[in-house]
This record gives sequence, structure tokens and C-alpha cells, in this order.
Amino acid sequence: MARILLIVGGGIAAFKAAELIRLARRQGHSVTPVLTSGGSHFVTPMTLAALAESPVYTSLWDLKDETEMGHIQLSRAADLVLVCPATADLLAKMAAGIADDLATTLLLATDKPVYAAPAMNVRMWQHAATVANVATLRKRGVTVIEPTEGEMACGEYGPGRLPEPADILSELSRHPGLDPGSRFFPSAGQEEEAGSRVEPGMTNKAIDLTGRHILVTAGPTHEPIDPVRVIANRSSGRQGFAIAAAAAAAGARVTLIAGPVALPTPPGVARIDVETAEEMLAATLGALPADAAILVAAVADWKVAASPTKLKKSAGPPELRFSPNPDILATLGSHPDRPRLLVGFAAETDDLLANATAKRSAKKADWIVANDVSGDVMGGASNHLHLVTAAGVEDLGAGPKEQLARALVTRIAQDLA
Ligand code: CTP
Repeated sequence: MARILLIVGGGIAAFKAAELIRLARRQGHSVTPVLTSGGSHFVTPMTLAALAESPVYTSLWDLKDETEMGHIQLSRAADLVLVCPATADLLAKMAAGIADDLATTLLLATDKPVYAAPAMNVRMWQHAATVANVATLRKRGVTVIEPTEGEMACGEYGPGRLPEPADILSELSRHPGLDPGSRFFPSAGQEEEAGSRVEPGMTNKAIDLTGRHILVTAGPTHEPIDPVRVIANRSSGRQGFAIAAAAAAAGARVTLIAGPVALPTPPGVARIDVETAEEMLAATLGALPADAAILVAAVADWKVAASPTKLKKSAGPPELRFSPNPDILATLGSHPDRPRLLVGFAAETDDLLANATAKRSAKKADWIVANDVSGDVMGGASNHLHLVTAAGVEDLGAGPKEQLARALVTRIAQDLA
């Protein structure tokens, strides 16, 4: 098995990197993806992470989250580095020794065999600068895999297309230290003869949620004070959206009930937008039955007796009268159509695990994901989660919300299996 450090550059061919990961995994290799900021415009970290079953590294900052996984270790833990697609810009940076992001820093620091699979517009490929950069890289021992000829995404015809992922993988197998022609690098032909086909989920058995209905609530709720004012909270919805995305990537049918947030709907997710806690409860009950419900929303505990007309400043500070909102998690906990796996979140600033444990039994949830919100977690990109179950407490780790979403969805898939 080869350990491939895959650098995905920014080009329309980046989508083929996803196929390459799928194929490489099927052939028994492990793939650690590094996504450049350009690459992330074409393919999401979530897609690569789901296919590679590995964290996706996007910036030098990630490495701090990943505890101890410095860029030198990333390179050390690989047998080879593959840049796919290699854009004209990445080739130029490699040739010039520029290290201004994680991908180029890795490429400058690595002592492992480096492969580059360029893909770009034909005129960029044939430009004297690119030709000189490729010659320099080849002289230094980088294997530059020739692009193929054909019609390009930009409508032009000529060399510059990324070769098929199977051809790129068989190119890697030619490297002297990498067991040419061995079981580790079966050729594309051998794979075809075996008649093996990859269906969604097959490469990712541990997180296959095909056929499952997963319900997720996310974001804040807004409780109106009058027709223009609301009581809100700082929830961004990012953690819940990441969980919905991870569940959909694992093949589930996902219903995402979202409070007011400024986030795009993840691919393959059915989204219902709501505003208040009562609307969220109604939408949640309307979406039952579900195999699992993960209630991540920061639901307002109280609603206000709202004024039907706009409160005027001249009338002085208003007296707000609060009354309790329904508790969606507790309602589901005792509902006849209770999902088989009911997961709540506990956002706490103090006594995290004690409060989470108390919420688990008070709301009749199976699991509570304990979330320390004393830092800048609300609205931030990272989190540290603990899972409180009947059996005790598990540390799901710290890191980007997408990575933790995947860890949680993996646990959910194991539980529902
Ligand atoms: N929750 C809910 N409906 C509510 C309040 C909370 O479904 N009206 C859910 C949240 O989505 C979360 C869990 O209950 O999954 C815990 O939310 P949290 O705000 O931490 O707990 P509260 O019950 O509101 O307790 P407190 O605010 O006192 O910590």
C-alpha cells in the first residue's frame, strides 16, 4: 500500500481528484489530501475527506488544530507526493521555490518522490514560461505526467487535459521504489478485468448511511419583539450544516431545519428554513419519522409577547414579557415517533460534562454532544466536542467543524448499522 500525499490545485480538473482518491483507495492506498485555496473553489474539503477518510489539510493553520501534525510530518508520513491537478501557477511556484501556502511549503520541504499532473488551458500549457518551468522541474527529478489532448472545459482543443485518474495511478507505479506492477499498483486494465465497480458508499463502508433519514436542526432561532426587532443568539449554524453535509456525503437522506443563517445548503440536503422555536418544532415534527435526529440548533429558551406594531422609541424602553418556548429535544425524547438515535448538543461555558450528562437524562436523549462555548466557538470555524452516552464520555477531538462533523457522523453510522 502506498501512502499518497495528494495536493489538489485550483482548476476545473480538481473534480477528477475526487475520482482519483476513490480509485486509489480501492487499490488499497491511503490518501491524505491537501487542498489549495484555489482548489477549494472547485471541490469541497468535505468531498475529499469523505472519499479519503482522512482529514483534509488546507492551510498551515490547520496543522495547529491537528496537534503535532506539522508539514514536515505530513511529508514524512507519505511515500510520494502527487500534485493533481497541477496548475500553471503551482508549477511556476514549484520551479521558483516559492513557499507561500501549505501546498507549496510541503513541496519545498519534502524529500519524497514528487509527481505533477498538470491540467490547464492549451495556451497556458504551451506558454514559454510553463515549458521552462516543466523542464526545470523534470531536471530536478519531478515526474511531470503529460496532459492529454482533447476538448477542454474552456472550449478549446489541444494538450492540457488531465489524464484519467487510472492512468495517473499507473504512472505512479512506475517509480522504482514503489513496487512496479505489484498488488499495490494494479493497472487500470487489471481493475477492469476484475469487474469491480465503485458505488457510492462502497469505499466508505464505515460511514455508509444509504437508506437512512437523518434530521438535523441548526442555527439560532429569532424570537420577534415587534415586526422589525428580534431576540437572537450568536449561533452561525456552521456545525449543524457541517453535520448535515457529512450525513449527505455518507449517503443519507438529510432534512436540515435551519434557523436564520447565511450559509449555502450543502449538496444533497433538503433544507427547511424557519425563524422561531415554535416553527422549528413544527418543522421537526413534520419531518418525522427519522432514523436519527441531531439537534444542533441554539433554540431560544424564551419567546416574547410580541407587539403587533413597531415599538416607538418615544414610548420609552419596553417591558418585555417572556414565556417559555417548547423544548424540541425533550419533545422528541418522549414522542411516539422518537428517532432511534436522538442526539442533542449542550452548549456550556461551565461544568461542561456534568451539565451535558444532566441534559441527556432530563431530555431523554441517547447522546449529548458537549460543546464548550466559553471561547469563540459560537460562529467560529473550530470546535472541541465530547460525546456523552449511556456508556460514558468519549472525546471526539478538536478541529475544524467539518472534521468533527465527520467524526460524529461516523459514530452515528456505526450506531445505526
Ligand atoms: N434544545 C431544543 N429546544 C429548546 C432548547 C434547547 O431542542 N427550546 C436543544 C438544543 O438544540 C440542544 C439541547 O437542547 O440540542 C441543549 O441546548 P442548550 O441550549 O445547551 O440547553 P438548554 O436546555 O437551553 O439549557 P440551558 O440554556 O439552561 O443550558
